[in-house]
Amino acid sequence: NKKVIIDCDPGHDDAMAILLAASDVSDLSIEAITTVAGNVGVDKNTINALRVCELAGLDDTLVAKGADRPLVREKLEAAHVHGKSGLDGTSLPEQPVKQTVDAHAVDVLIDKIMASDGDISIAAIGPLTNIALAMRKEPRIISRIKEIAVMGGGTYGNRTPAAEFNIYADAEAAKAVFESGTPITMFGLDVTHQALATDERMKQLAAINTPAATAVTDMLHFYSGAYKGKFAGAALHDPCPIAYLIDPTMFQLENVRVDVETKGEFTYGMTVIDADSRTDQKPNAQFAQQLNTQQFWQLFTDALIH
Ligand code: BDR
Ligand code: CA
Repeated sequence: NKKVIIDCDPGHDDAMAILLAASDVSDLSIEAITTVAGNVGVDKNTINALRVCELAGLDDTLVAKGADRPLVREKLEAAHVHGKSGLDGTSLPEQPVKQTVDAHAVDVLIDKIMASDGDISIAAIGPLTNIALAMRKEPRIISRIKEIAVMGGGTYGNRTPAAEFNIYADAEAAKAVFESGTPITMFGLDVTHQALATDERMKQLAAINTPAATAVTDMLHFYSGAYKGKFAGAALHDPCPIAYLIDPTMFQLENVRVDVETKGEFTYGMTVIDADSRTDQKPNAQFAQQLNTQQFWQLFTDALIH
C-alpha cells in the first residue's frame, strides 16, 4: 500500500478526493488528513473533513487541524464556489461525531514523516501553508517526503487571470515548497480542466445510488454552479493528484522548472512554467500535461459504486 497524507481544505472537490482515496479502487493507505485555511476558514474545513471521513468510513483515520491563515498575505476564501459551509448542497450531518486529534497539523505532518521510511507521499490539495510551515519547523522532512502531488497553478488562472486559487491563497508558502527540493508533481488547471463533470457524467453518477455517489451528486449540483456557462462542466481539481497516486499511467508528465511569482502587481500567485527550458534552472517538478479522461472517469465512478 502507498502511504499518503492528504492536506486539504474541504471544499467539494477536496471531499471527492478523500472519497476516491478511501474507496475500494484505491490502494492508498491514508496516514492522516490535515486541514488548512482555504476554501473557507480552517474550522469549517476541518468539520467538513470529519464529515467526509464519516461518510467514507474512515473511522480510525487521524484528522488534524492546521494553519488558520497564510504565511504572509491576508486571508482569502472561496465561499462563492463552495458555499458558506464550504460544502453547501450536501445532506451530510452538520456536526460530525468524529473528532480531530489534539495536535497541530504541522506537527502531525512532521511526526508521521520523521517516523516513516521515506515512503509517505503528500497530496496537497489546498493552499500550501501547512507544508511550508512543517518544512521550516523540521527541515529534515524535506528529504524524507517521497513526493508531493500538488493541485495548484497552471499556465492560466482561475482566481486572477494569472493565478490559480491554491497558489494565490498563499504564494509565499507555495514558493517555499516548490523551491524545497522535495519531488513535486503538479496538477494545474491545464490538466484538472480535463476532468470535467459534464451533464452526462453527472447523470451517470446520479444513477449509481450508493451513499457516496449520492453525496457526490449533491455536491456537484452545488459546485457546478460556479462553472456554468463558462465550461462544459465543473472541474474535479483535487481528485486528480489522488488519481495519479493510485494510477500514474493516466497522466502525461513533463519535467519542468516551476517558479512561483510573489511580487507581481498583476501576477501574484502565478506559476511560471519553463516548458521550453529558457532558464538555466534545473527542473523542480513534474508537470501534468495530459489526462486520459476515460481512465479517470472509470476510476472515479468505480470508486463510488462500492
Ligand atoms: C482549487 O481551489 C479550491 O477551491 C479547490 O478545492 C481546489 O483545490 C482549484 O483552484
Ligand atoms: Ca482544495
